[in-house]
Amino acid sequence: MNIENKLIDEKQLEDKVREMALKIDKAYDGEEFIMIVVLKGASVFASDLLKNITGDVYLDFMAVSSYGMSTQSSGTVKILKDLDMEIENKNILIVEDIIDTGLTLHYLSQNLLSRKPKSLKICTLLDKPQKRKCEVKADFVGFEVPDKFIVGYGIDCKEKYRNLPYISLVEA
Ligand code: IMP
Ligand code: MG
Repeated sequence: MNIENKLIDEKQLEDKVREMALKIDKAYDGEEFIMIVVLKGASVFASDLLKNITGDVYLDFMAVSSYGMSTQSSGTVKILKDLDMEIENKNILIVEDIIDTGLTLHYLSQNLLSRKPKSLKICTLLDKPQKRKCEVKADFVGFEVPDKFIVGYGIDCKEKYRNLPYISLVEA
């Protein structure tokens, strides 16, 4: 498998993350919020983002698994790890690696909204708009990318390549 085809390099990632953190700080304008990181793919992005946020921020994690192609129509997602924190009446920011069909984030948003947060915003490093199956509007988007398989900077292919410091297209 060839992972040498860099799509987004280290410097571009660093600059973008800093820019996104500034926008997030500005949006919350001194109000505290909880960053909800979607494991595992968003973990590297979220760590870099967190270091660049200057406002009052709390950290929590969720792990979900999609059931795959066969159940995409129902958009069923299983929660593997739930939040530690109560989010009722809190500002929450979901941090995701990629929005593809949108099914995962649609499910997650509905689930978290049922817990009555004060506000819910979505931040994603990458957006693949071409295969969207349900409408998900991210408030903060790093890069729009083509409908190709991507790895690196936390994002895997069968659990490999999360450690690449850049984002690469995967070619068989
Ligand atoms: P969806 O928006 O529900 O289709 O799924 C988004 C999730 O699928 C992301 O959080 C990733 O975990 C995974 N995913 C989508 N595209 C890619 C890719 O190109 N490489 C690795 N994982 C991907
Ligand atoms: Mg993911």
